[in-house]
Amino acid sequence: MSKQDSQFFNTFSLVLGILLVISILLFALARSVGKNTQAAHVLADPRYLAEVESNLTTGRVAVAGRDNSALTIVPAAGAVVAELAIPTDGPGVYEQVCGVCHLNGLAGAPNSSDRAAWAPRIAQGKDTLYKHAIEGFSGKQGVMPAKGGRADLSDDLVKAAVDYMVTKAQ
Ligand code: HEC
Repeated sequence: MSKQDSQFFNTFSLVLGILLVISILLFALARSVGKNTQAAHVLADPRYLAEVESNLTTGRVAVAGRDNSALTIVPAAGAVVAELAIPTDGPGVYEQVCGVCHLNGLAGAPNSSDRAAWAPRIAQGKDTLYKHAIEGFSGKQGVMPAKGGRADLSDDLVKAAVDYMVTKAQ
């Protein structure tokens, strides 16, 4: 690079740098002026205030401490809301949960109509059957998952399902 070139380059960079500093200063100045004038006017604008007010009163925005029930999402008429039904009695549990395996002999589960398979199990006594159904059990045939894999069922419901299965298998 010739001497002249490098001198030009230095001056040019200096000028660019100064311009950059000036523009940053101007930007900061504009911001500070705007903060005290324009922004204040915008916030005080009646149309702006009216919109805020309508958002608050029509319940389009949730406000702590107010009645926000208007914001609740209501499913459209006829919409199907999926819900995991919780069976409420022994036969219900059996049909929804246990039957998947015990009706079809799936995964080694003793079929609930197979008397021969159930006789020795029933002979263990109800308490053992309850325990195995609630806590799970792995035997020679396969694995009986705790509560048939439905941990949300109460112990009493599982017991009712066992009772129902036993009456079917007797
Ligand atoms: C994933 C399949 C599966 C589901 C679902 C299932 N079971 Fe079982 N259950 C088994 C298998 C497999 C066995 C046999 C295990 C063995 O003896 O090797 C069994 C055995 C049993 C036994 C006999 C236990 C014993 O001591 O001999 C009872 C009682 C029982 N299940 C109750 C239930 C109930 C009640 C439900 C529903 C809440 C249920 N099962 C759901 C697979 C299942």
